[in-house]
Amino acid sequence: MIIAPSLLASDHARFGQEAGRASRSGADRLHFDIMDGHFVPNISFGPQVVRAVRPLTKLFFDVHLMCSRPDILLEPFAGAGADEITVHVELGEQVASLIWKIRKLGKKVGLAINPPTAIAEVQPYLDQIDLLLVMTVNPGFGGQEFIHETLPKIQQAETWRREKRLPYRIAVDGGINFQTAAECARVGADTFVSGTTMFRAHNLRAAVKKMRQIVNANDPALADLKV
Ligand code: DX5
Ligand code: ZN
Repeated sequence: MIIAPSLLASDHARFGQEAGRASRSGADRLHFDIMDGHFVPNISFGPQVVRAVRPLTKLFFDVHLMCSRPDILLEPFAGAGADEITVHVELGEQVASLIWKIRKLGKKVGLAINPPTAIAEVQPYLDQIDLLLVMTVNPGFGGQEFIHETLPKIQQAETWRREKRLPYRIAVDGGINFQTAAECARVGADTFVSGTTMFRAHNLRAAVKKMRQIVNANDPALADLKV
């Protein structure tokens, strides 16, 4: 199980220290929410922030592009130090070439899907991706309420992965707290992006440890072993 704090919920006046805090917290990845004010009604930060904090931590950098023109952003983020780049399936025809370009840059590939989008939309790409990011809120802001109607999509993604023996990870993103992380783990999620619950915690290390204990306790694969 992977825990990925989202830097969007951190103190933006102290990105360097916050990346250092995440690095010492026992987390597995750092999640960067890149918003362009067009694909989503908000603007966050660019490759300069990724480049600035890259030398400060060995954490795996997972860059989530909520952008209408990710094609012009792949190289800048790859060059800045991203390890994985995620684009949205709602971009339609562009998706296949974006996946190819991310691979060509030597980076891992993530594909994100918004709550209103039918899970069938990602099926053509499942054998080409490393991560399926199931949005559990409508993208654009941190601190939103978890949308429970997304749980069956996680379950479906897990069923396809098992039936087709595919290696992609199933990540959830948005409104992930200790309760909703447990619910997502039970239906097959294995990667937990969390902003508010992590960076707003008094003790980030304790929050990461607690979330890891909770998702491990609700991991169906581990539950099977216990029987
Ligand atoms: C929302 C982003 C999320 C968000 C998560 O569009 O993709 O990564 O920052 O923050 P919380 O955990 O506060 O919902
Ligand atoms: Zn995100």
